[in-house]
Amino acid sequence: MITPASAIHTDADARPLLEARGVSKTFWRRTGLFTKSAENRALDDVSLSVASGEIVGLVGESGCGKSTLAKVLLGLEQANGGSLQVKGRAIFSVDAATVPPAQRGIQMIFQDPYGSLNPRMKVGALIGEGLRIQGRLSRSAIKDEVRRHIALVGLSEDSLDKYAHQFSGGQRQRLCIARAIIMKPSLLIADEAASALDVSVQMQILNLLLDLRDRIGLGVIFISHDMGVIEYLCDRIAVMYRGRIVEEGAAEAVLDRPRHPYTAHLISARPRVGVRRHEALASIEEFDPAAIKGGSGDLAHRCVYTERCPRRVERCSRERPELVPDRQTRVACFNPIPD
Ligand SMILES: Nc1ncnc2c1ncn2[C@@H]1O[C@H](COP(=O)(O)OP(=O)(O)O)[C@@H](O)[C@H]1O
Ligand SMILES: [Mg+2]
Repeated sequence: MITPASAIHTDADARPLLEARGVSKTFWRRTGLFTKSAENRALDDVSLSVASGEIVGLVGESGCGKSTLAKVLLGLEQANGGSLQVKGRAIFSVDAATVPPAQRGIQMIFQDPYGSLNPRMKVGALIGEGLRIQGRLSRSAIKDEVRRHIALVGLSEDSLDKYAHQFSGGQRQRLCIARAIIMKPSLLIADEAASALDVSVQMQILNLLLDLRDRIGLGVIFISHDMGVIEYLCDRIAVMYRGRIVEEGAAEAVLDRPRHPYTAHLISARPRVGVRRHEALASIEEFDPAAIKGGSGDLAHRCVYTERCPRRVERCSRERPELVPDRQTRVACFNPIPD
């Protein structure tokens, strides 16, 4: 029998579960022996909030900074600026000590369910590993938790004595989800968690996340380069381009009345879940940064989408558009698409 949600997580707090403000992360890349190293603003002033039981989609082409944001939130990379709160608690900011990853209440599942599971451990041990390391529960209590969570992700109890390689890709992703949610995170980050799977299996994983959101009130940041998947799953959508959020809002508003030209481009190019097969979008890494007029050095002071934008106006290349409320969504654009 499955224990009802409320017995696992109780969270009546009205504050946003997660609130990231102005988060920045710059990587420095040496371009040659004597040349100055080039800066790569992987995250440039990114703000994002997530409520309990809300699935927020983070969408954008490969290389736009989605995984970097996930790593910064999780504590696997250190931000250069900005702040993060989880349930009102300061996780990092300019003047607060950084809370270690294990104490943030954030768990993550990755794209590759093959690479992230130790092949020498039985599934039962794999799922209970985090609790064992934490050392707060007895062996028998951990066993009970493991049984409850294998059921919660829709796998049978006899799975616990098997090894990860005996499972299909979709089943392994379920194991990863069980391993993450057994730690009772407030927030789950799924980074391209369904992208490597067949469409039908992908649908099962998306439905499992919807089910967990409803049953245990999990907040989710769902990262994908695929607008079709985002459309199916998310309550709210944040669109990223070259390290910035260019549009953000309720899913219906973003999808039905996109204001940013890049959002409109992603929507027009999207494969529909269950309708067409997944197609990868062009990667921005196909663009040669050196070929971009003015180089990337002045990116901080202009719109990052200018080169590709069909709606660009003169102002776009000399001023930076901030993310501001505009009708139904927040949009960073000087010439947004009219209604
Ligand atoms: N550890 C790193 N060192 C240097 N550059 C990195 C590192 N991780 C990511 N980057 C760069 O940051 C940018 C964003 O990458 P990433 O967050 O992986 O994008 P996405 O997940 O959207 O595909 C890319 O230009 C990438 O090359
Ligand atoms: Mg990524």
